Amino acid sequence: MGLAKPFVLGVVAVLAVAACLPPGGAQTSGASDFAALCAPCHGPTGVGNGPAAADLVIKPANLTGLSERNGGTFPLARVMSKIWGYSEGAVPSMMPEFGPLLDSPTVLVDVGDGIQTPTPERLIDLADYLASIQG
Ligand code: HEC
Repeated sequence: MGLAKPFVLGVVAVLAVAACLPPGGAQTSGASDFAALCAPCHGPTGVGNGPAAADLVIKPANLTGLSERNGGTFPLARVMSKIWGYSEGAVPSMMPEFGPLLDSPTVLVDVGDGIQTPTPERLIDLADYLASIQG
């Protein structure tokens, strides 16, 4: 029993330090962000079979079929909006908003509308990763 309290305090301290790291400061990549943030629901390969999926009323989408369901083109703008947390339609989603977590230095990107929009690097890296796993 005597060991329990210091151990718990130690874990809390580690989590507190992790929470204070600047976004992107811990060498993230699209793949590592996917594994940490998305795989619990969407599964390690993105097909929608993560460990948390069983408990969700609305099932996580198969993220390897995004292009196929969009007529063969990767829906970049829609994917980035979805991840960031701009929801479409009135149905509440089971998927969290990741905007605050992925906040990072921006780069200019044209997502297909001809406009160079400042976009957080980590969001682009994650979208690139998703584009790379299309079946
Ligand atoms: C708590 C579980 C959960 C987590 C974590 C999660 N998602 Fe989702 N996601 C869902 C569910 C459920 C849906 C289907 C319902 C909806 O569209 O909101 C979904 C849908 C999506 C869609 C829309 C698919 C389509 O066909 O339009 C994309 C893109 C997506 N997720 C990407 C991600 C990415 C990238 C991450 C990690 C940053 C992530 N999700 C993390 C549960 C989750």
